[in-house]
Amino acid sequence: MKRVCVIGGDGIGPEVIAEARQCVDAVGVKIEWIEAEAGLACRGRTGSYLPQATREAVQRADAVLFGAITSPLASEDPNYKSVVLELRAMLDAYANIRPARNWGQPRLVPNLDVIVVRENSEGEYNAPESVDAEGVTTMRRISRLGSERVARFGFDWAARHGRRQVTCVHKANVIRLADGLFRDEFRMVAKDFPALVTTEALVDSCAHDLARDPKKFDVIVTMNLYGDILSDLAAGLTGGLGFAPSGNYGARKALFEPVHGSAPNLAGRDVANPSAAILSAAMMLEYLGSPAEAQRLDAAVRRAIGEGRTVDAGGSLGTQAFGALVRRSLVRV
Ligand code: IPM
Ligand code: MN
Repeated sequence: MKRVCVIGGDGIGPEVIAEARQCVDAVGVKIEWIEAEAGLACRGRTGSYLPQATREAVQRADAVLFGAITSPLASEDPNYKSVVLELRAMLDAYANIRPARNWGQPRLVPNLDVIVVRENSEGEYNAPESVDAEGVTTMRRISRLGSERVARFGFDWAARHGRRQVTCVHKANVIRLADGLFRDEFRMVAKDFPALVTTEALVDSCAHDLARDPKKFDVIVTMNLYGDILSDLAAGLTGGLGFAPSGNYGARKALFEPVHGSAPNLAGRDVANPSAAILSAAMMLEYLGSPAEAQRLDAAVRRAIGEGRTVDAGGSLGTQAFGALVRRSLVRV
């Protein structure tokens, strides 16, 4: 039996993760769930954002299902280090897959289906900063290994999922050496995948084209900060962050999380859209070796989105009611 460490976190995190977990149980995959805590409320209770017991639970698990965490105000804790970034680093989760699909909503781009593969371990996210009298210097590092492995992950993923095109997104016209290295590694890896069409785009132009004509894109492989921004843009095309799942993949483990945050203003009101969390759980099932169940769950969410609208989509279905609708849809797919 696979072991999953489940961390609800803060705000709406526990609410959407509870629905996702029930959906996994309902689809019939037996999981040993290890519950663990992290985040701001956890820090209040235990003195730590990421207690040792949680670190150990993550180490014992095959995968992590994660909700969201509220960051403290800078004035409250100037030394705060993002918990999710720490978890990604702990798992050496170097590739972040963020699908943006039209899950059946009317009025959005029909058949939209773009996958952002975000480099998840370096660039601005792992950059020491130094302060001097005049300003701040950020030491952004791009390595050959980091660039090569995320490109390979993206191509492998594209090949395994029957995709046709992989686009490298960078800004090598300005950041010539670092972004040029990322692009060059991508070109090297591309040679191993002659069946896939490869294209390249500058990040600004990619943002423009995503907004105007997203069907130009299939799988996008990009650098960390560009991937952070472009995946939110792509999520916007699909009806918002309530519909944006993600998986952070390392060589041995992976962490699955909705792209949205903890939305403290929505917490405890049963109004958050659990679609992103449930779709993330479906990605997790595929990773854990249950692709048929993953597809069934994915299809059930799609069907539920077609039938009932959550509050963020202009409807009135609450978190629990939508989760229940997904589980009822499961019976029919
Ligand atoms: C995301 C988030 C995180 C990131 C933050 C919370 C550190 O925006 O998962 O996209 O920037 O990676
Ligand atoms: Mn982000």
